[in-house]
Amino acid sequence: MKTQYYTATSLDGFIATEDDSLDWLFPLGDVNDTSYPSFIAEVGALAMGSSTYEWMLRHALTVKDQMGTAWPYAQPTWVFSNRTLPPVSGADLRFVRGDVRPVHEAMRAAAGAKNLWIVGGGDLAGQFFDAGLLDEIIVQIGSVTLGKGKPLFPRRLTSPPLRLMSTKQVGTGFAELRYEVFRGKAAG
Ligand SMILES: NC(=O)c1ccc[n+]([C@@H]2O[C@H](COP(=O)([O-])OP(=O)(O)OC[C@H]3O[C@@H](n4cnc5c(N)ncnc54)[C@H](OP(=O)(O)O)[C@@H]3O)[C@@H](O)[C@H]2O)c1
Repeated sequence: MKTQYYTATSLDGFIATEDDSLDWLFPLGDVNDTSYPSFIAEVGALAMGSSTYEWMLRHALTVKDQMGTAWPYAQPTWVFSNRTLPPVSGADLRFVRGDVRPVHEAMRAAAGAKNLWIVGGGDLAGQFFDAGLLDEIIVQIGSVTLGKGKPLFPRRLTSPPLRLMSTKQVGTGFAELRYEVFRGKAAG
């Protein structure tokens, strides 16, 4: 069982524009050419922040086009927010706030031997990292720059560095990198 932050990013390190647009992302390639189908098959539970969840709510039709259904996850999903958010009919959602550690425990219990997917955003992935709970960062680096936007991983992670485990080219639109995270808080 691994806790994995799996996301696409621009070359300059943004996972969405400042106003939460992903319009730049979808023309870059077909999700079925990436590792996503094999990745999601091994996921037992998901966690996401409220901006990511609200993107899913706003783009239910686009998501349906891309994934075949407005809420594409059969797995239980923990949504972090300090606000009250509307549920999605038929989705297995748990709304939570605060410390990621008890949520991680609950996710592990639900996922069994399968992996935990931290969908994003970057700071939420950072909260799992801060707690020493993140095992891997898997990024599809898109062949675009955004200049500014929502950060990939707003943390200083230098020592020990991430360990690059694999690289894969996906067409001309993406380079997919898989990194292992040193388990435990980084020294600086
Ligand atoms: N490129 C990709 O593949 C990819 C992947 C994932 C996401 N995205 C996009 O990237 C953007 C990410 O947005 P974001 O950076 O703002 O991150 P986010 O994690 O989606 O949302 C951040 C918000 O979640 C809530 N939150 C986070 N941690 C919390 C905690 N411990 N307790 C309670 N609430 C907590 C807070 O909002 P409130 O308390 O106000 O609710 C916080 O402002 C979205 O537009 C998303 O669609 C892109």
